[in-house]
Amino acid sequence: SDFRHIGNKLLNWYKTNARDLPFRQTKDPYKIWICEIVFQQTRIAQGLGHYNNFVQRFPDVKTLAEAEENEVLLYWKGLGYYSRAINVHKAAQQIMNDYNGVFPHEYDEILKLKGVGKYTAAAVSSICFNGKIPAVDGNFYRVLSRIFADDFDISSSKAFNYFSELAHLILPENVGDFNQAMMDLGSEICKPKNPLCRECPLNEDCLAFSLNKVSEFPVKTKK
Ligand code: ADE
Repeated sequence: SDFRHIGNKLLNWYKTNARDLPFRQTKDPYKIWICEIVFQQTRIAQGLGHYNNFVQRFPDVKTLAEAEENEVLLYWKGLGYYSRAINVHKAAQQIMNDYNGVFPHEYDEILKLKGVGKYTAAAVSSICFNGKIPAVDGNFYRVLSRIFADDFDISSSKAFNYFSELAHLILPENVGDFNQAMMDLGSEICKPKNPLCRECPLNEDCLAFSLNKVSEFPVKTKK
């Protein structure tokens, strides 16, 4: 079975439909890391000002590592989930101490940073270092479960591994852009409610759409 064309179609769509976001102009792992931490839990429109102010005041790992925690928290004010701020501060010190101030290039090393989970490590690795790892999050669960009309329970602890394997079936060469294309598709088109299927670049490949069952996916049994 060959589903690779799906990933390539998504990449083509992304070429002309990528959202114009400040962190898309850079491959600096420091900035991509910060943006992934901010925007995994905060909407783009809501966090963009904070992100811009943060990287302006703390433009690199060293500046962040040497700052006072109180000031880091001040720049996070309004974003919520303040453990994220404490963790990025500690991780910056970790990079200074354990990696001589050089942001680690390998997925397994990025994963060791305080506050960095599999999603963030995959995003930084793929966007900045050409790592071939899907950045699986809720967008991936939703898009993939619809494309394959797959009723795997996304509240299961096995969902992450399951949808990671599904993602590998459609993964194109440029995984960094693919991951970001999935984020854009998931937030602009393949939305949780009222998805814009008529505008979707993948509607011809989407089994749920062809069965008129998009609203039945993803399946989630627990809150
Ligand atoms: N949300 C989190 N990271 C993102 C990215 N790189 N592009 C778009 N939305 C995002």
